[in-house]
Amino acid sequence: MTQMILFVCLGNICRSPTAEAVFRAKAAQAGLDVVVDGAGTSGWHIGSPPDSRARMAAAARGYDLSPLRGRQIAPEDFHRFDLILAMDRSNLSKLLASRPAGAKAEVGLFLDYAPHLPESEVPDPYYDDGFDRVLDLLEEAGSGLVRALQSA
Ligand code: 4NP
Repeated sequence: MTQMILFVCLGNICRSPTAEAVFRAKAAQAGLDVVVDGAGTSGWHIGSPPDSRARMAAAARGYDLSPLRGRQIAPEDFHRFDLILAMDRSNLSKLLASRPAGAKAEVGLFLDYAPHLPESEVPDPYYDDGFDRVLDLLEEAGSGLVRALQSA
């Protein structure tokens, strides 16, 4: 059965589009049947392409973010997706507060799939330019999520 997975950050122009592209590539490599998407808790960048720094850092590792566009999470996402993964605890608490009663989505922190890392959240790279570390974290957690889905 197709697993529906949504990655969520604040703006949906840095971390979640990168997570989406990284995980889509890893899932395809592993032959997993998944649909992957990204969204922001804010509506600040609806319709915008990912941040040019995120696009460049991702492209250097072979991930193409250029087709992606920003969108804001909507109530129906909690019914449509099986798993909604936040980049940090602020995103997570907004998701938990807006999760409709009876929705099927399980909501959690993406880095819970990489418990060996020192970080438990993906830091916001928008102001500090930490795009390479963000990619390291997302690749580790993406591999962990692939393993979790393979053993489910
Ligand atoms: P993201 O990063 O949540 O990883 O997409 C940000 C993008 C934009 C802003 C903040 C964080 N902003 O303030 O516009």
